[in-house]
Amino acid sequence: MSMLPAREIPGDYGRPFFGPIKDRFDYYYNQGELEFFESRMQKHKSTIFRCNMPPGPFVAQNSRVICLLDSVSFQTLFDNSKIEKKNILDGTFMPSTDFTGGYRACAFLDPSESNHAILKGYFLSLLAKKHDKFIPIFRQGISGLFSGLEDEISAKGSANFNDLSDAMSFDFVFHLLCDRKASETKVGSNGPKVFDKWIFCQLAPLVSLGLKFVPNCLEDLVLHSMSLPFFLVKSDYKKLYDAFYKNAGPILDEIENLGLKRDEACHNLVFLAGFNAYGGMKRLFPYLIKWVGTAGEDLHRRLADEIRAVVKEEGGGVTLAALNKMSLVKSVVYEALRIEPPVPYQYGKAKEDFVIQNHESSFLIKKGEMLFGYQPIATKDSKVFENPNKFIADRFLGEGEKLIKYVYWSNGREIDEPTAENKQCPGKDLVVLLSRLMLVEFFLKYDTFKVEIEKALLGSTVAFKSLTNAVHEDK
Ligand code: HEM
Repeated sequence: MSMLPAREIPGDYGRPFFGPIKDRFDYYYNQGELEFFESRMQKHKSTIFRCNMPPGPFVAQNSRVICLLDSVSFQTLFDNSKIEKKNILDGTFMPSTDFTGGYRACAFLDPSESNHAILKGYFLSLLAKKHDKFIPIFRQGISGLFSGLEDEISAKGSANFNDLSDAMSFDFVFHLLCDRKASETKVGSNGPKVFDKWIFCQLAPLVSLGLKFVPNCLEDLVLHSMSLPFFLVKSDYKKLYDAFYKNAGPILDEIENLGLKRDEACHNLVFLAGFNAYGGMKRLFPYLIKWVGTAGEDLHRRLADEIRAVVKEEGGGVTLAALNKMSLVKSVVYEALRIEPPVPYQYGKAKEDFVIQNHESSFLIKKGEMLFGYQPIATKDSKVFENPNKFIADRFLGEGEKLIKYVYWSNGREIDEPTAENKQCPGKDLVVLLSRLMLVEFFLKYDTFKVEIEKALLGSTVAFKSLTNAVHEDK
């Protein structure tokens, strides 16, 4: 790699306490997330610069970061020889371990910690073992989602996709891990709401409710200046923990055999199910449907044509082989993951001094400095993607397939694989598979649909306004 001209990292942190508070107000209230980054990128004429990231005082002791906003420097965050990933899943602060039984879940561990390899290696093997369950369990769940959408549209003229999608996602994860439906256990249909509350309490320092009748300074005081305590969700969490403890016995046996305590294994499993998997899907599916829905009827017709032709060719079955032949479906899923990655923030602490580069310059990073990548900008790098802000369904077709290495949603390049030694999402292949499956099931059943989008606390709310049933010639 040839060295580009050296440049000092632009930007500063302001005065102690006041600098972080000013940046926090800019981030949530004065500018908003996107403008916060874009305005600084323009001011410093650089995709790499210094700033404070929320929450800052008094939740985070040190809010100083070096922002990485281009597709080249962002990849430093995947290099575990240079950066440490200990306790920084949520950024410059870590929620109390009370939320996870006093243990640090796998996602908070650095690969240099022995429990990381044990847990991550186990999760990878578990998913490989459950592979043939993915399609049947998902198909069962999605039929409930479809009837829910249809019922709500006919009753009210509009259906909330998010609630139905959350219910389906929770049921999928529970069924996959516990080999039975949540509805057959004490959890019933309460799972999503409990996980929502538990996730919200952990991530409250990172959200803004956008409530018009609450003054900004009051919201800031309550949400961003202190952490919400675990006791608010303690009894609900206990119910879910007990349900996994009771129903995921074989998994807990296996993790115990690897040397962890049974309760540590179970808290880890609940975190995997609730935070990683359910929490990820909570944003993933609404984003996917939002982009496909708003792309309009022409794309819907092309997707339906491809999906129906391949399924017919494969003898009517929705199989892995069939999904692999659907090039447009694949491209659309990658494009949705590129344009709006479900987990937008990634952090990493420099293990040593090293040099990073963007497209124009090289910069010296000092040991102990915190790197922060805001992914929605890094995956819209105009030096890599043409018309980066536009949803282009065909982007990754043919020659475009070469660009999937710049898709980073899984905390790694799409062409790389999660391992026990790295921090890439072990659910990577499952997530891509379920996203494709969602489109396949949709367009086997429907010709087209109309949606309306609203911004929500954690992502987007998608309201279905209409669904047009497919007219099957050969049925
Ligand atoms: C559904 C959408 C999902 C998204 C968007 C997603 C995204 C991510 C991302 C970005 C990370 C890295 C976090 C970081 O270190 O900064 C991650 C890690 C992780 N994900 Fe996922 N994930 C999803 C689903 C799943 C599923 C289905 C599973 C398992 C069944 C899973 C299990 C994990 C675990 C255990 C980690 C920690 C990895 C490690 O410590 O090395 N995720 N995920």
